[in-house]
Amino acid sequence: PKEGKVTQYEIVEWAINLMQQALHSGSAGELARTYFKGRNLSQDTIRKFRLGFHPEDWSWLLDKAKGRYSEKQLVSVGLAGERDNGRGFYDNLVGRIVFPIIDERGRPVAFGGRVLPGGNIESPAKYWNSPESSIFLKRRTLYAFDQAREKIRTDKAAVIVEGYMDCIACHQAGVTNAVATLGTALTEDHVKFLKRFDCRVVLVYDGDNAGIAAAERSIERFLAQDLDLRVLTLSDGQDPADYLDKHGTEEFQALIDGAPEAWEYKLQTLTGRHDIGSVSGQQQVLNEMLDFLAAAPGLAGGIREDLVIRHV
Ligand code: CTP
Ligand code: MN
Ligand code: MN
Ligand code: MN
Ligand code: MN
Repeated sequence: PKEGKVTQYEIVEWAINLMQQALHSGSAGELARTYFKGRNLSQDTIRKFRLGFHPEDWSWLLDKAKGRYSEKQLVSVGLAGERDNGRGFYDNLVGRIVFPIIDERGRPVAFGGRVLPGGNIESPAKYWNSPESSIFLKRRTLYAFDQAREKIRTDKAAVIVEGYMDCIACHQAGVTNAVATLGTALTEDHVKFLKRFDCRVVLVYDGDNAGIAAAERSIERFLAQDLDLRVLTLSDGQDPADYLDKHGTEEFQALIDGAPEAWEYKLQTLTGRHDIGSVSGQQQVLNEMLDFLAAAPGLAGGIREDLVIRHV
């Protein structure tokens, strides 16, 4: 093995190429190709995001790496794991469709893998993501940022979604300023990074419990910051990919353009939770909103009580 000279980026790149080949050629990739077709991804999109497939073989990459990279090197980028008590190694992404994660400088750093419906590999988790490594820090990573940078700059807006498929569906639909936080909430590092682009940040989260909870957490964390934060959660449990399939780009873009500011989103959730037809319900909304705002003392300009009352 070319120990020492090999960079982790090189190993990740090597694996991406193999998994792209496995997707595009041969019978092993047939089911995955059909799956992507069923998700309405074009060939162009599949190539652009370098999507791949890992065949149902627990040593597929380990075997291909022989004489080139050591098992430990594959482990170091999350491609393989080591069995307990030194009983050997196994590939991590077995039987999954694979989303390579590229950093903001265009370097391949990690992978997300999704269970392939209809395949033979059972897994309790729909997604498997590379563990953190010296080249992959989750709290810093925004999936597809390298492809979104230009439009974020020109539009002065970044659209943040939760999932790989959501982000890819956005790009395919022309919403190319979309990035995804990968199973994590929006972090201080993400925000600090985005601030360099002087853009507003529009969260478009899934309309399921996880998405709604993540939206609330993000609001609480960033309301007090000097950040133009807008927040949307989609209705009926939909996520951006579902919504785009059903309604198309125009309606989706209109939702984004009309996304309420973070504090207003919060107010909407409160008015939905209480009976605002009654005075006591209105009082509850007002109290909770004022508590919430009091916890955000840095709020630019301040949001006054009368403004809240007007909305209720
Ligand atoms: N996620 C994860 N690990 C999980 C579940 C989710 O890392 N066990 C992350 C993934 O990045 C995923 C995102 O959270 O894309 C959103 O999760 P979810 O809504 O459950 O999946 P979708 O992206 O909607 O996936 P799909 O449409 O393919 O079912
Ligand atoms: Mn979800
Ligand atoms: Mn989805
Ligand atoms: Mn989803
Ligand atoms: Mn519609």
